[in-house]
Amino acid sequence: MDHRQGPVTDRLVLRAMVPADAEAFHRLNSHPEVMLYTGEPPMPSVEAAREAIERYPDWEDPGYGRWACLLRDAGPDAALIGFCGLKLLPETGEVDLGYRFLPEYWGRGLATEAGRASLEYGFTTLALHEIVALVLPENEASIRVLTKLGMRCTGDIDYLGDTVQRWAVRRQDAVER
Ligand SMILES: CC(C)(COP(=O)(O)OP(=O)(O)OC[C@H]1O[C@@H](n2cnc3c(N)ncnc32)[C@H](O)[C@@H]1OP(=O)(O)O)[C@@H](O)C(=O)NCCC(=O)NCCS
Repeated sequence: MDHRQGPVTDRLVLRAMVPADAEAFHRLNSHPEVMLYTGEPPMPSVEAAREAIERYPDWEDPGYGRWACLLRDAGPDAALIGFCGLKLLPETGEVDLGYRFLPEYWGRGLATEAGRASLEYGFTTLALHEIVALVLPENEASIRVLTKLGMRCTGDIDYLGDTVQRWAVRRQDAVER
């Protein structure tokens, strides 16, 4: 099954990124406030963003990945306003929920909406047993999103040189809620 077309929520369309998203993807990944707690350096150029989109390997293996998020209301020419989705972490073998939105869209519940749809997709369509999220302890907005999604902090782990909180939710707990 092709997972490039992700879930559609009340306000968002989630789908694989395409080269035409490069400019907005670069704006997102070079914004200092957005990148503050991601542990990643800012993306240097639109060209680097285009290459990252074109070389993104996850749609081939494992077949799912992070989706671009677009506002449904914005119609067919909608620009990417963020991303959200599931990534198999090669370092741990766990499936990680991640999200990132442009600051002008913060505080409207969009990360929670996209995150909820991604978890549901992971547990139903992908039949995953557990989904994790890794977050720096100072990232209070993200921790609030994880809490609203019904995830629980299982403790600190070392991930790529940072001490991060590991949050998790299992399928049976997500279904029972
Ligand atoms: C984390 C992020 C995706 C949240 O997006 P969002 O669409 O604003 O999230 P939501 O509106 O669904 O929920 C945010 C919640 O955090 C709360 N919040 C925001 N800033 C906060 C802060 N500094 N301290 C505590 N809570 C905060 C909001 O009030 C809201 O909670 P509420 O619904 O109880 O009021 C967004 O801030 C972002 O893109 N950050 C940069 C990238 C990033 O850090 N990604 C996560 C890496 S683990």
